[in-house]
Amino acid sequence: MTLDPRWHVVEEKFDPKKMGHYESVFTLGNGYLGTRGVFEELYRERTPGTFVAGLFDQAHPNEVTELPNLPDWVEVSILLNGEELDLTQGQVLQYRRVLDLKGGVLTREVVWESPQGRRTALRFRRFVSLANVHLVGISIAVTPENYDGPIEFRSALNGQVTNSGTQHFTSIEHSTYAHRGIYLLQETVQSKQQVVVAANHVVHGVLLDESFKNAHRRIVYNAVLSGKRGQTVGIDKLTTIYTSRDQDLPRAVNLLHHALAASSRQTQQGFDQHLEVHQQVWEQRWQWADIEIVSDDHFDQLVVRFAVFHLIQMTPWNDPRVSVAAKGLSGEGYKGHVFWDTEIFILPFFLYSFPQVAKNLLTYRYLTLPGAITNAAQNGYSGAMFAWESADTGEETTPEVGGIDPVTRKPIPILCGKQEHHISVDIPYAIWNYYQVTGDRDFLLKEGAEILLLTARFWASRVSYNPDRDWYEIKEVIGPDEYKEGIDNNYYTNALVQWHLKKTAELVKLLKESPAGQCVLLKLGVTEGELQDWQVIAAKIRLPREGELLHQFEGFMELQEIDVLKYRDVPGLLQKAYGWEEINRSQVLKQADVVMLLYLLGDEFTLAEKRVNWDFYEPKTMHDSSLSAAIHSIVANDIDLAEEAYAYFQKAARIDLTNSMGNTHAGLHAASLGGCWQAVVHGFGGVRVKSGELSVTPKLPKAWHSLRFKLAFQGKRLQVSIRRDGYEVTTVD
Ligand code: BGC
Repeated sequence: MTLDPRWHVVEEKFDPKKMGHYESVFTLGNGYLGTRGVFEELYRERTPGTFVAGLFDQAHPNEVTELPNLPDWVEVSILLNGEELDLTQGQVLQYRRVLDLKGGVLTREVVWESPQGRRTALRFRRFVSLANVHLVGISIAVTPENYDGPIEFRSALNGQVTNSGTQHFTSIEHSTYAHRGIYLLQETVQSKQQVVVAANHVVHGVLLDESFKNAHRRIVYNAVLSGKRGQTVGIDKLTTIYTSRDQDLPRAVNLLHHALAASSRQTQQGFDQHLEVHQQVWEQRWQWADIEIVSDDHFDQLVVRFAVFHLIQMTPWNDPRVSVAAKGLSGEGYKGHVFWDTEIFILPFFLYSFPQVAKNLLTYRYLTLPGAITNAAQNGYSGAMFAWESADTGEETTPEVGGIDPVTRKPIPILCGKQEHHISVDIPYAIWNYYQVTGDRDFLLKEGAEILLLTARFWASRVSYNPDRDWYEIKEVIGPDEYKEGIDNNYYTNALVQWHLKKTAELVKLLKESPAGQCVLLKLGVTEGELQDWQVIAAKIRLPREGELLHQFEGFMELQEIDVLKYRDVPGLLQKAYGWEEINRSQVLKQADVVMLLYLLGDEFTLAEKRVNWDFYEPKTMHDSSLSAAIHSIVANDIDLAEEAYAYFQKAARIDLTNSMGNTHAGLHAASLGGCWQAVVHGFGGVRVKSGELSVTPKLPKAWHSLRFKLAFQGKRLQVSIRRDGYEVTTVD
């Protein structure tokens, strides 16, 4: 295989210490399901993970709902003349694992010498089909180099996997089908969703023996092939996954029969044919999604494609009932929950590349409005209050405690579910953005309008009036900077609420012009008095500032100052030195907060204001969240700090590939991948929408010769080509 540094992510060396990291990086997915890049053979460090988008389960009443980890379908142990393949033993003579971003294939090539001196070449290929979302496959080819002897494959479906100890499934049935098929039928304990995982096998070579084993939620197909020096034998494992949540199932279908019939049909076509069709779909996706960067070093090109690749893999293509989890489908981190990460960080990529997918993501919020209405009511508010962490129903699912505070040695309470309310303005912001970019008035005037109106109603009940100062306040919140809890008048939140209430007035004008729009107002019982109140609140909302300097919140300037730069580059160092309580009382930010606002409401701030606030907040920011660096890159570009913009882009783009935050093993940082796309298109590409018009003001980094990408804008497809000496925007068929 010839390597292309612009398309191939390569692991050059087998290193068990990095196993978790690469498992996340090499995740394959198709938006319906995702599977971590675990090895086929078993190691102590191996953490298998297969997740189906939207399939949630709450195994115990005192644990929050999460995406259950499905049976491990990847496992295949290999015995080479009786010696089990184990790269921690013997000698690894050659090793290379390559993720081909262009075609969505994970390949591993190994030459291994066993402790007894048997040398074997092995080649593994894996895909998760984009053409048929229920289909995943592995093909293994084995060539004994200096011996003759039996080659045995023990291919398993292992339902013993848990979510870090929580078992979400009860087993209903495990058995065999066709000639070489094995399956597990399971059901989630609380949500009662059925899941079928069925693996059928094709063997290549002379079969000496075959058998099945079945014990404790784990079923195995064994094939023993005759191995001869220099001759390749192998096995293909095509696996089919269906769940009772699937929207593409015929009505009243028997899930198991349906899955087994599909699997038998798929086996007839064979691994290579499925792989080819899958690669064709990737080619179509890249046609619209690719970003081409020409520079002397290929790494920037690779990381941007890596981001786009994973964004496509983790996002449901045509299921509006589900959204994107903070870790996509690549790990148990954040339990598969959906945050503001989706609307503010991930959605823009889809908006400009695949607008229909962006619409689905917003429709998920529409469909979970009943949950948001419940959240508001439970907290004593009106309207709809979106969950900080959302799952299937839209009700709040944020856990109540997190990791141990190194200073108090007690679990840190997580207050985000109770206080991080800005999600209820981030979603309206994304809806308006969607409308600006697509021009989709139908969506705005129906689903969008319901969300905007119900959240406006929520904010009107959330603010409190201060008669002494004649202003409206929003007290006891957490802003984007999660180091600060229980704060009053977070500038980011208040400014966006003001923006939201003003946009709602524009929306209401549009609604009144159409019968469908009037129906929405009627349906929600929106009164004239209410509309007036919203505008009064917008006009009088408290926005703490001193000249050009925005105060992150009331009292921020009085907090103690600490030398943030001393701690910034080592994850966890600040926490060890200060502890949670003190961090809460200091001028140190976890992530972009005021700077985030300078980006989202860029047109509302002058260049001078942006510079003053950057100078003040940037040195106080730890970038302890992966959501920070990409936004800093964009804002740095806006204020002509070219070097900082490029440095922050590189920081954002490397988070998962280099494991710079040290936690990629728990899953990819989806928001950062989306942020990376925005840093290129909105930052260096300078693409923005101003008063409904597309504007392009490129600022190419010094290191790049050219940048080219496509955009979907108001029903047109455009190509933006930027060179050092100019740029052009052309229409694409
Ligand atoms: C960040 C949040 C983010 C969440 C999920 C947290 O560490 O502070 O802004 O939404 O991670 O990615």
